[in-house]
Amino acid sequence: MTDHEGRLWGGRFAEAPDAAAWSLGRSVHFDVRLWPYDVAGSRAHADELRRLKLVTAADHAAITSALEAIQVEFGSGTFTFRDSDEDLHGAIERRMVELAGEAGGRLRAGRSRNDQIASDLRLYLRDAIDATAPAVRELQHALADRAEETLEWPVPGYTHLQRAQPVTLGHHLLAHAWALERDHGRLLDARGRLDVSTLGAGALAGVTLGIDPAAYASSLGMSGVARNSMDAVADRDFAVEFLAAAALLGVHMSRLGEEIVLWSSTEFGWVRVGDAFSTGSSIMPQKRNPDVAELVRGKTGRLIGALVSLLVTLKGLPLTYNRDLQEDKEPVFDAADTLLLTLPAMAGTVRSLVFDRERLAETAGGEFALATDAAEELVRRGVPFREAHERVGRLVAACESQGIDIADMDATALRQALPALGDAGPELLTLQSALSRRDATFGTAPDQVRAQLAELRGRLDG
Ligand code: ARG
Repeated sequence: MTDHEGRLWGGRFAEAPDAAAWSLGRSVHFDVRLWPYDVAGSRAHADELRRLKLVTAADHAAITSALEAIQVEFGSGTFTFRDSDEDLHGAIERRMVELAGEAGGRLRAGRSRNDQIASDLRLYLRDAIDATAPAVRELQHALADRAEETLEWPVPGYTHLQRAQPVTLGHHLLAHAWALERDHGRLLDARGRLDVSTLGAGALAGVTLGIDPAAYASSLGMSGVARNSMDAVADRDFAVEFLAAAALLGVHMSRLGEEIVLWSSTEFGWVRVGDAFSTGSSIMPQKRNPDVAELVRGKTGRLIGALVSLLVTLKGLPLTYNRDLQEDKEPVFDAADTLLLTLPAMAGTVRSLVFDRERLAETAGGEFALATDAAEELVRRGVPFREAHERVGRLVAACESQGIDIADMDATALRQALPALGDAGPELLTLQSALSRRDATFGTAPDQVRAQLAELRGRLDG
């Protein structure tokens, strides 16, 4: 690099940048994807300069048609970057001067790359969220549809990955859908806060030309204007909020992915993942691997990494703009891309699952799944829970040594073991009653799961 030609800041320098320094600072290979937003901001800025009579009508027309040509070049993939283009903003200005001559050089008045990049990234994220939120909805729809089919299917519910109490499969699947409901809300919440224009803040202090920040907001369709020019150029909270929402969404998909991996193992034998969402092994002909669920689980590492990376970038930065902030973009882009890859793959996987209803029912009732119900029945009959727990615990131990389950005992044996049960018979200790008696609004009683599903559907369609 031996000249300053084409660069935005050659004037006060005697020496060209060192090649290694230039490579380190160049960002066109990743900030190129911000072009639609940079062009839109440039158009709004040209209009504002015209309103203030800082450019003539002829210059404004030349700038506007150059921007249109640039838009076409980017859109058709024919825009070429030069080695001397440091970033997208510089490349667009360089091209504008090539196309519009001196008029192109007037557009830099009253703007800085600092307010431009803040604006571009906000606009990018607004679109990224608009693309991601429906994909979250689609995964929720997949879970809701599967829950509807399996509303009444008993399955073992787990704590500590040990069988705990029976639930319905519909209830279990909806638990994942509700987690995604919060993710959806967080994404929209972040969108609401980021929709604020920063153009006109200049480098940090605002500019002297009398520009009206609200004009940019209305031209870019943003709902407000940043209140402080220093905050406008220094703030990346909106990107952190997106990444935090993305990381947590990733964690939720990962937990679902982990369950699909477990459930599809021979040891669980609950489910078969559809062919289209499974892969085989190159050496073991019998293998059928839940790769999609594993990859989704694996991709969550990069989502969390993206969040941590940006937080670490920000934590030591004095106000206002610092070049470190250039490191905000790649994690944001990577997270947005990762979500758009993983969400549809996960939705497809959920839709492809073939559950083994019999196997689920078999396992749901085993391993003393109804022991809590027996203890609660004793409570209903006046026994303090502490004592009921102890009595049923002793019964479980006795059954275990005989190799039977409480649910296998007949009425007489049960009454002998737990006299306080009175006339309550084994019919109270069935899977069906264990499910239907858990009828609080958030319980696993099929009627409540049906109501829960209707409420979720209302939100999905609302
Ligand atoms: N490429 C820069 C970034 O991504 C744009 C802003 C540059 N500003 C500056 N003062 N060098 O942050």
